[in-house]
Amino acid sequence: MTAHFITLHGQRVTAVIEVHDDEAPIWRYWGPRLADGAEPGPYLRDTRPLPSFSLDHDQPLSLFPTFGLGWFGQSALLGHRAGRDYAQSPTGCTATWITPGTAIRFDLFDAVAGLEVAITLKLDPDSDVLTLSTGLTNTGDAPFEVQWLASGTVPLPQNTTHIRSWSGRHNHEFIAVEDRLSRSLWRRENRRGLTSHDNFPGAVVAADQAHYGAQLAWSGNHAQCIEWIDDGQYQWQMGEWFAPGEVILAPGESVQTPEMLATCSTLGPNGIAQNFHAAIRAAMDWPDGRMQPRPVHLNTWEGFYFDHDGAALAQLADAAAEIGIERFVLDDGWFHGRHDDTSSLGDWWPDAGKYPDGLLPLASHVTALGMEFGLWVEPEMVNPDSELYRAHPDWALQIAGRPLLTARNQLVLDMARAEVSDYLFDKIADLLATLPIAYLKWDHNRDLVTAGATPRYRQQVQATYALLARLRTAFPQVEIEACAGGGGRIDAGIIRHTHRFWASDCIDAVSRIAIQQGFLQFMPPEIMGSHVGASPAHSTGRSQSMTFRAGVALTGHFGVELDARQIVGQDRETLAQWIALYKQYRDQFHHGKLWQGEAQDGLVWQAHGDADELLLFVYRLTPSGQRHLPTLRLDMLDPNRAYRITRLDPVDPHKHGFPPAPALEAMRGAGLEMAGGWLNAVGLPMPPMKAEQVALFRIVGP
Ligand code: GLA
Repeated sequence: MTAHFITLHGQRVTAVIEVHDDEAPIWRYWGPRLADGAEPGPYLRDTRPLPSFSLDHDQPLSLFPTFGLGWFGQSALLGHRAGRDYAQSPTGCTATWITPGTAIRFDLFDAVAGLEVAITLKLDPDSDVLTLSTGLTNTGDAPFEVQWLASGTVPLPQNTTHIRSWSGRHNHEFIAVEDRLSRSLWRRENRRGLTSHDNFPGAVVAADQAHYGAQLAWSGNHAQCIEWIDDGQYQWQMGEWFAPGEVILAPGESVQTPEMLATCSTLGPNGIAQNFHAAIRAAMDWPDGRMQPRPVHLNTWEGFYFDHDGAALAQLADAAAEIGIERFVLDDGWFHGRHDDTSSLGDWWPDAGKYPDGLLPLASHVTALGMEFGLWVEPEMVNPDSELYRAHPDWALQIAGRPLLTARNQLVLDMARAEVSDYLFDKIADLLATLPIAYLKWDHNRDLVTAGATPRYRQQVQATYALLARLRTAFPQVEIEACAGGGGRIDAGIIRHTHRFWASDCIDAVSRIAIQQGFLQFMPPEIMGSHVGASPAHSTGRSQSMTFRAGVALTGHFGVELDARQIVGQDRETLAQWIALYKQYRDQFHHGKLWQGEAQDGLVWQAHGDADELLLFVYRLTPSGQRHLPTLRLDMLDPNRAYRITRLDPVDPHKHGFPPAPALEAMRGAGLEMAGGWLNAVGLPMPPMKAEQVALFRIVGP
């Protein structure tokens, strides 16, 4: 037996692995960066005497824990060959550098069970994100059924205490759930067939010295678990959830997992978010290889719903262009027979009654006004009441003898069938080729129930990715938004094909603050669709001022979703001012670092930029409970510099004045100067605000 250590260093993260040539590599460390050369010294087993009532073989946590040889924890692989080969254990291991120092592949062989496993680990030095993925090949002579194959297994330190994960529902995504870790197994699973509103495929874990975060790059079923192990550490596994019988490998066949992105930071959840933002930014595939400034959207949905009238929509486009909108997105309601949500999905050509001359007159009107034209589609769906379903009822996913369960009156197409994806490609390509469409909003408005006579959940996801890729190859300039009843398909898998997420159908600004906080933990702001909606908000009935609505939406990929023709007077002026502010600062919102937090007395804040220049949003959600307001500490600023602080938010015309305070007034003029060290340690004085108000500060070093 020979053994050695392998160390991967990021800027602020290190992973250390102990490699033996006859077993799976052993995890020795993943956490804040170690000094160069800080290797473990002795091999792990040489440091651990065997405990009482234990095997005479010590099996520590490996990169691929399997219970074939004395591992009593969760296995990274569950599978069998008609009942045989259920107890796997690698008998050989080779390590091959892909990029010396940062990316490595471990090839494991199980000569007894007839399996090969390839585990890839890449530690990106720019983002400090470790990307793990696993491939499994059946080298035996009979089919091997896989029930679970973790994308990755990572260790969490002994002093890990809490985990934050995200639950939710339609109109209320990213509900944070805090659990205390203990010796009980922590586990979450999603079986809805797409990423889901209910279970974001990621979490953030708190330990004494650092935070750890992970997310799965996959748009289907998923599972993750965290488990205490005998040495006081925890193991964290994440991967695709397979339905029974979903993955059966014929001899020679392989299955490849989606990627697990994992990171660690001593800078708290904001450090985790910054690392993920860097990794997602690097993975995005923009037209021409570069993100253009995110154009201000006007989306027709909440202003018009299904009520499409060519003349009214042309007026809407006029009103939108006047306030500075840059992209006009025609939402649901434009296609053949679509007058409500009971019919027509699948019939992707313009409704002849609403658009007698097709969509070209409206699209040309929009582009003549200097805006881009975008169009909503929901390709994976079909209504039973549609030409498509009448022609091809067998194209919907179904199991003979079971009722076809509709949701929003619709069924799901079997995307893995070539004739289905060809039909959808032809219909969408026809629209893209004949109209000046710069943008598609790609929706998915229901969960799957079953996925065909044999389970095809993962094929459904792969086929959708393939259709997206095929369309992007044919129309490389078109950007695509991923939407699924708002935020039902937000994940790091679909971002390889798309450019924006619609974070929620709830546009109420108070609700949006929490939704956006969860989103921004994993995804950068430039791909977060955030709109100014109507007041009262359609989803909650709550009313908020134009300033507050715009101030909450501003930092994402900003847009407007209301009948802009009806916005007049002061509200129109306020909205135009915020749109102008967005255009002035979007580069900073969309390229810099992001911090967010909650201060005392009901304040929520979000800051964008760096130690040279920070844009700070402070939101007050509830009335203050203090006579004198708390200060807001800004520890990301340089303690050795002075900063000039000004207020950028347009003065809220609806607010009743507060008594003046000279220093706060100065922020509205030439600016207030304060020392970075003071802002770090004591903080910025807060202006008085009423409930549901926003203040926006610009904090600039000399
Ligand atoms: C989903 C989307 C909405 C809108 C409607 C149209 O609910 O999330 O934004 O596009 O579908 O039917």
